[in-house]
Amino acid sequence: LVRCQEAVEVSDISLNSDVATVHRLGEAASALGKVHKVVLMVDMGDLREGVLPENALSVAGQMASAPGIQLVGVGTNWGCYGGLMPDRPRLEALVDLRLDIQRMLGISMDIVSGGNSTNINMLLDGSMPGGITELRLGESILLGTEATQRQSVPGCRQDAFTLKAEVIEVLAKPSKPIGKIGQNAFGVVPELKDRGIRMRAICAVGRQDLDPDALEALDPGVSILGASSDHLILDVDEAENPVGVGSVLSFRPAYSALLRAFTSPFVEKVVVSQ
Ligand SMILES: Cc1ncc(COP(=O)(O)O)c(C=O)c1O
Repeated sequence: LVRCQEAVEVSDISLNSDVATVHRLGEAASALGKVHKVVLMVDMGDLREGVLPENALSVAGQMASAPGIQLVGVGTNWGCYGGLMPDRPRLEALVDLRLDIQRMLGISMDIVSGGNSTNINMLLDGSMPGGITELRLGESILLGTEATQRQSVPGCRQDAFTLKAEVIEVLAKPSKPIGKIGQNAFGVVPELKDRGIRMRAICAVGRQDLDPDALEALDPGVSILGASSDHLILDVDEAENPVGVGSVLSFRPAYSALLRAFTSPFVEKVVVSQ
């Protein structure tokens, strides 16, 4: 609620599921002499945002009656929490909801916002039902992958983003911690294999900036061992190119690593044209 004023200042349209929020958006829009457009989010089963389909008609009525608001459509989201994949019956149910709301309220709505990068395969193989007017695509455009099995999207590149980080320590050390083991900083009791003495490097990025499980080391022979808040720990024993303090290593981020890198104030974003 506290950011409704800002929301109507910077956007004409937003995805919503809460009636009180929509009323607040409407008040803020009216005060600015604007009408704010709203897409009613319906939860088709992923169990993140959205009203349940059986409540959509009543909620739509309450939203459409808010001063300063134009209800322009329905939308849904997939995969983000429950990993739910879109299917034809549920998408058709969403399309039907638009028609039901239009009929009930006597309004016309242009938008059926059918999902995100989890829908890409249906879009490409032609199985997406008619009546879906838009998808909200992030991952498939930016990373070139669909979001349920991370298959490549034809025609898209998978190498648009590279994370570069400077090496701040390189030392030969045992590969298994020495002594009694408890939880690490992140509540996990690590089970590390003894691979003998190995050359290890630390890069100056960490979990605050990336997800080490969604990161691939691009320098041949370099592998990721793990990360703490601001240290990325690497095995460089078999690195093909010499790694020393000051070396800059490259990594390819998948979705969650890219998300954190973009929201971390400690990662500089540089656009390079090729
Ligand atoms: C509501 C909503 N729509 C669309 C997207 C984009 O999803 P994707 O990156 O899978 O295309 C997201 C991702 O966070 C989202 O939360």
